[in-house]
Amino acid sequence: MLYIADTADLEAIRHINEFYPLAGVTTNPSIVSREHTDFWTLMQNIRAIIGPEKMLHIQTVQTDAAGMIAEARLLKEKIGGSLYVKIPIGEEGLKATMAIKEQGIAGVTMTAVFTPAQALMAATAGADFVAPYVNRLDNILGNGVAVVAEIAELFRVHDVQDCRVLAASFKNAQQIHECALAGCHSVTIAPDLFKTLISHPTTDAAVAGFSADWQSVYADGTILTV
Ligand code: E4P
Repeated sequence: MLYIADTADLEAIRHINEFYPLAGVTTNPSIVSREHTDFWTLMQNIRAIIGPEKMLHIQTVQTDAAGMIAEARLLKEKIGGSLYVKIPIGEEGLKATMAIKEQGIAGVTMTAVFTPAQALMAATAGADFVAPYVNRLDNILGNGVAVVAEIAELFRVHDVQDCRVLAASFKNAQQIHECALAGCHSVTIAPDLFKTLISHPTTDAAVAGFSADWQSVYADGTILTV
């Protein structure tokens, strides 16, 4: 599983990068706007924290293909490293995706995906990732996990090798777990959900029990001291 942090909060990224097997960071214009700071400095700071090898997915703000391609070049030049331009699915986005991939400018993550048909078209155009929005589907009485499962199945049936499902827009651990079961191999999740995924009260109780038993006999620290 590729775990990606869906945030531009530098402190959160620093923490997750230190404590979890982080594969990269995704942002979008809403996430960036929340930080109220200079865009380029923010992206450079994220790159500095995660290093050049982890993925950084940055969304285009241009709306036509020419603008998206120009923005992809600029992002690659100014941010560099393992860079994926997030492009919303649409005609201009598909045109830009084909050009960016043909010219080898950067990776492409096709975003704002809500249907399996959109995902298959994006993969065929050369996108490296497709990002279905699970919780936003659930919010409109869709079934986010079912859409992810259908995309995974379509990719299997059509032998799609070079495009991965990057499920996005999660509000709870159950949605992430069900997407993983459905065959999704990468997820981008808000910082607080990383802890939620590993927390369990019975784990805490087990660790507390180990500690108490150990202390009751070896409290003088005669062995395993550092
Ligand atoms: C990631 O690619 C999406 O931009 C993001 O996960 C959307 O999440 P939201 O529905 O919580 O805004």
